[in-house]
Amino acid sequence: MEPNVTKKFDLIILGASGFTGKYVLKQTLKFLNNQSSLNSIAIAGRNPTKLAQTLQWASKPNPPPTLPILTADTTDPTSLRSLCSQTRLILNCVGPFRLHGEPVVAACADSGCDYLDICGEPEFMERMEGNYHERAVESGSLVISACGFDSVPAELGFLFNSVQWVGSEVLNRVEAYVSLESEKRMVGNFATYESAVLGVANAHNLQAFRRSRPRRPRPQIPGPSPSKGETIEHQKKIGLWSVVLPSADASVVRRTLSTLTENPNGLPGSNESSETVAKREAFWSSVKPAHFGVKIGEKSLLGILRIIMVGIFIGLLGNNSFGRRLLLKFPWLFSLGWFKKNGPTEEEVESASFKMWFVGRGYSNESLASQGNTKPDLEIVTRVTGPEIGYVATPIIIVQCALILLSQRNNLPKGGVYPPGIVFGPTDLQQRLQQNGISFDVVSKSTISS
Ligand SMILES: NC(=O)c1ccc[n+]([C@@H]2O[C@H](COP(=O)([O-])OP(=O)(O)OC[C@H]3O[C@@H](n4cnc5c(N)ncnc54)[C@H](OP(=O)(O)O)[C@@H]3O)[C@@H](O)[C@H]2O)c1
Repeated sequence: MEPNVTKKFDLIILGASGFTGKYVLKQTLKFLNNQSSLNSIAIAGRNPTKLAQTLQWASKPNPPPTLPILTADTTDPTSLRSLCSQTRLILNCVGPFRLHGEPVVAACADSGCDYLDICGEPEFMERMEGNYHERAVESGSLVISACGFDSVPAELGFLFNSVQWVGSEVLNRVEAYVSLESEKRMVGNFATYESAVLGVANAHNLQAFRRSRPRRPRPQIPGPSPSKGETIEHQKKIGLWSVVLPSADASVVRRTLSTLTENPNGLPGSNESSETVAKREAFWSSVKPAHFGVKIGEKSLLGILRIIMVGIFIGLLGNNSFGRRLLLKFPWLFSLGWFKKNGPTEEEVESASFKMWFVGRGYSNESLASQGNTKPDLEIVTRVTGPEIGYVATPIIIVQCALILLSQRNNLPKGGVYPPGIVFGPTDLQQRLQQNGISFDVVSKSTISS
């Protein structure tokens, strides 16, 4: 691999012409030349004309800067190798990742180029970890998926709740409740819906892949395992009806906790100062592992029934090819208006926001936790809030991850395929997100009366 100093670009956005890619480009341009870590970028994809139009859109109201537009297709490995040879980092916005992502990860892992993406597909992420981790360690390529709303708020939100448990307090479980709000209609772009439909269709492949892999260590969590609970939960404290959200978040957080179990002091950086080592080790020693689950919440029971209805459509029809064709042909109909082929309008994007509540439950002291089946007596509620998830929060998150990677590379692992929490947890990512509109706060700490 060429040393990084010889690379022409700090980063290349692959798939910049996509619905999310164009917002990632817009967010990236805010930081171009404004700080030393981002001086040279390029955009890449299969259609240069579309990319030029995207650059115009992303730059407005300013005239577009002169950026190199590179032609690359994920079906053409030579074009991907060429990108890797020119840049320190690729931000991959080409999805669904199960269809297009692997050749990009392979090119990066082979060449030593770093890689971030906005994937929310557990099977893709786990397969990439299984198939490319060793190669990425050898080449020095850092490959981190899920650097968007999936799954950084979940990862950092979990860690934020976990570090609130101090002294002899014992954390047992964290349940996250995602609540999406908007003054207008809430709409997502087709590719996210397609990723979800294909995820359901291939759920058995994910299970088979997991069974084929060696079991990774899980952390020891004091206290009993949480019961499944009711299908629809009414969380009075935060005023939400909720149901389990089969997103990538829980599996990503579990991977971070497994990596932490294997490396109790976190992952060593490639060339850390002793000060950074001490900071990293102190951070991870303050983190208490716990069971983790994610639910989607709505203020009304009717809202939850609507979500369940969409889940039933995708669950029933996603399992056969005719049903999948129907689901993908009529996203608006089968998602009950949540997903459109041409995505949300700019006004719809601007008017949306999210709240993600983290309800942590555990024990006020260790002796209580060690008494077999005792119920938790302490609850800490924390919250992550921010703008629209797919096209505002996600670009903010991936760009901040990229800036950390470019400016603090020596503090990060030399190479390997990892989830974002284990790599960025001890860095200043949370502070950076706060400075850019995604906030973290403690809502309450209270005893639970039995
Ligand atoms: N983590 C999160 O929270 C989050 C948020 C938003 C989106 N996402 C994910 O991001 C992915 C993209 O979503 P989107 O709505 O932006 O999709 P999109 O609008 O369909 O964009 C896809 C992009 O990929 C490019 N592309 C497709 N096939 C390609 C190929 N063979 N070679 C090179 N480029 C190719 C497209 O290029 P053309 O312009 O030439 O068609 C386009 O730029 C999805 O998987 C979605 O689930 C995740």
